[in-house]
Amino acid sequence: MARYIIEGGGRLSGELKIHGAKNSVLPVLAATLLTKESTVHNCPALTDVDAACNILSYLGCDVDQSGGSVHVVPGDLKGCGIPDSLMREMRSSVVFLGAIIARCGKARISRPGGCELGPRPIDLHLSALEKLGVTITEDHGYLECEAEGRLQGASIILPFPSVGATENAMLAACTAQGSTVIQNAAREPEIEDLMHFLNSAGAKIRIGENGAIYIEGVDELGSVDYSVIPDRIAGATYLCAAAITGGELLLTGVVPEHMASVFPMLEEAGCVIKARGDTVYLRMHGRPKPIRLVRTMPYPGFPTDAQSPLMALSCIASGTSVFVENIFESRYKHAAELARMGARISIEGRVAAVEGVKRLHGATIKCTDLRGGAALVIAALCADGVTAISEIHHVERGYQDFDTNLRGLGAVIRKERKTEDGQECEKKQ
Ligand code: EPZ
Repeated sequence: MARYIIEGGGRLSGELKIHGAKNSVLPVLAATLLTKESTVHNCPALTDVDAACNILSYLGCDVDQSGGSVHVVPGDLKGCGIPDSLMREMRSSVVFLGAIIARCGKARISRPGGCELGPRPIDLHLSALEKLGVTITEDHGYLECEAEGRLQGASIILPFPSVGATENAMLAACTAQGSTVIQNAAREPEIEDLMHFLNSAGAKIRIGENGAIYIEGVDELGSVDYSVIPDRIAGATYLCAAAITGGELLLTGVVPEHMASVFPMLEEAGCVIKARGDTVYLRMHGRPKPIRLVRTMPYPGFPTDAQSPLMALSCIASGTSVFVENIFESRYKHAAELARMGARISIEGRVAAVEGVKRLHGATIKCTDLRGGAALVIAALCADGVTAISEIHHVERGYQDFDTNLRGLGAVIRKERKTEDGQECEKKQ
């Protein structure tokens, strides 16, 4: 029942250290199941990370979350199934499938939850696991997965470079017998991060020059102490937030290379960007210019997760920007909420045309999904008057201390919690 109350008009400026990547830490936490013992550092404090830890605990692991680190000792697992209530918490619960099968030779899970971005099938995950020797049947909404003996290395060709399917195949194959090749694998930095984690624990995985992933199965993994990469999408989101306010921001603790496809878009909008070492500096003056064409693509293309934050910026551009969403079928739900603030967005299938307006105005709106919710916050930062944004649990799945960080940069934002009967019970300024 919490919501953000944002007074628009302030200019963001300052420095911000970016937290660890949600989309790295979740598969890495699943991968801890295969190790003797793991300590994972740079874990962001997010509800999705709590959900992953709850799954590990449910399976019987000893899990200790403290500060930004999670210590996991899998020991003897209690079971090899995840109940529907935990599976529905987030999409990433599905990457536990490959890890559980690798560890137990069988698994029982229901279909995962996560943001509603159109149909999110898991057929590619399942067919990759079948290639490795897993038999999968569906029973009353649960997937029953079983391997006869040890998983067998295989040649896997993904019809689409799905991030989750690549991760599941890597997790299942790293302790399979023999070699596995994953062709047309996803190349996102989070995939490389998972590979580094597994290799630090003794796996033998490498990425070929052609982008294929080569895995030599090992008997077992050992102990590992690992720090996950910074969150490139959180970084891109804060850059858009600073840009829409005509502000100035120094991001620290980032890998600029991971965000490289976002920079030309921000530059086209009129931002000055300087990437040096592990920092990115952005400065923006005046009204954004339109961005001719933003096409979301698998990495290293422009990330679908940064589409909505950039769209928020283009809402006040001095012309029309065009977006083409190529990854998810339905990732424009934020557009209707932005329209309540005065944005002019026309959508035709996967294409959105955003005709920039001079000013947005405050409104009462709600988050529709994680990145779409972040886009609404960004828009509210420059809107005239006050915006109240509900359903912010979506945003808190992916951005640690979002309101606190923005406030630290000069935004006027507070989180308001309400009880069931609408009474305000806590204010945080
Ligand atoms: C990951 O989702 C990320 N989530 C998403 O981030 C991100 O948007 C996405 O990759 C693309 O970069 C996590 O890492 C937890 P996919 P994932 O499998 O693995 C289709 C965020 O905001 N597909 O690459 O679910 C699918 O429907 C989130 O942080 C199949 O058809 O993405 C989609 O259209 C949201 N069959 C496309 O592939 C399958 O079996 C890309 O999905 C699997 C996927």
